[in-house]
Amino acid sequence: MSATVPDLAVPIGAVTLKNPIIPASGTFAASYGRVFDLGRLGGLVPKTLMPGYRPGHPPNRLTEAGGGLLNAVGIPSDGEEAFLRDTLPAYKGWGTPLIVSVSADTAAGFAELVALLEDEGVDAVELNLSCPNLEEGGKSFALDTKMTAEAVAACRSSKLPLWAKLSPNAEDIAAIAAAAVDAGADALIVANTLTGMAMRRDGRPALANVTGGLSGAPVKPVNLRCTYQVAQKLPGTPIIGCGGISTLQDVLDYMAAGASAVAVGSATFTRPLTMVNLVDEIASHCTSRGIAARDLTLRA
Ligand SMILES: Cc1cc2nc3c(=O)[nH]c(=O)nc-3n(C[C@H](O)[C@H](O)[C@H](O)COP(=O)(O)O)c2cc1C
Repeated sequence: MSATVPDLAVPIGAVTLKNPIIPASGTFAASYGRVFDLGRLGGLVPKTLMPGYRPGHPPNRLTEAGGGLLNAVGIPSDGEEAFLRDTLPAYKGWGTPLIVSVSADTAAGFAELVALLEDEGVDAVELNLSCPNLEEGGKSFALDTKMTAEAVAACRSSKLPLWAKLSPNAEDIAAIAAAAVDAGADALIVANTLTGMAMRRDGRPALANVTGGLSGAPVKPVNLRCTYQVAQKLPGTPIIGCGGISTLQDVLDYMAAGASAVAVGSATFTRPLTMVNLVDEIASHCTSRGIAARDLTLRA
């Protein structure tokens, strides 16, 4: 008897991911293509592109904390030209959708980057809304409904699908999600890191930036709750769950909370094959139950 091949494809609006597993921006590089076939992933996501040259935060930028990781990398960048010339080509040709993450410190800055990507053969753009808005005193876009709406609306003239990446630091993430969708977001990534802090033994902050973004296992209950709240508020809007995912059960939990797909970040640092292993495990899970991957998503 031949085993049936499960249907792992999941629709995220106009984009069909090959399966529900994609990398979380900033935790992955195209050089993983030397370790496994990147075409096995549901889609590919490079590190967030920001305008111009940026050195990022000074070291120390990364530390273990609370059973997870705390980072304040600060999105270093060689600028748009280098991104289009060097980074983007390495992500193309893998036969799986390419989603480019962008961020900026003004709404117009987001729009300029999205416009730049318009004809670059990418399948969707992820708007990383966690950056500080310099026009609003440095408050993160993702903490405010109006700022979120402005950033998304500024990009909406693009024909590319727009995925808004939200922050678990928001007081009412469902309200922010609704603002993003009203302004034209096609899908939501729920969510980025949770702001935290760690001390060294000498009582000084472990990170040069003092605070950083907590990721990995400790954020899962928070981001899972965020996913559930957003899914309940916006039935029908595709959600990509993110935060502390490393096992099949983590994936199933996010999909049961309403996610259509998930992004895996910190787990790749400890086990580089985590994502491909998850794809295999989802395939076995679906085969043994005679279901498709899209059936794993709870419909609110
Ligand atoms: C070292 C590091 C760098 C990151 N850089 C970015 C980034 O450039 N853009 C972004 O949207 N998220 C970035 N993130 C957040 C991840 O994409 C993800 O949202 C977060 O780590 C939660 O997922 P995880 O618990 O699976 O790591 C970064 C996370 C880490 C640990």
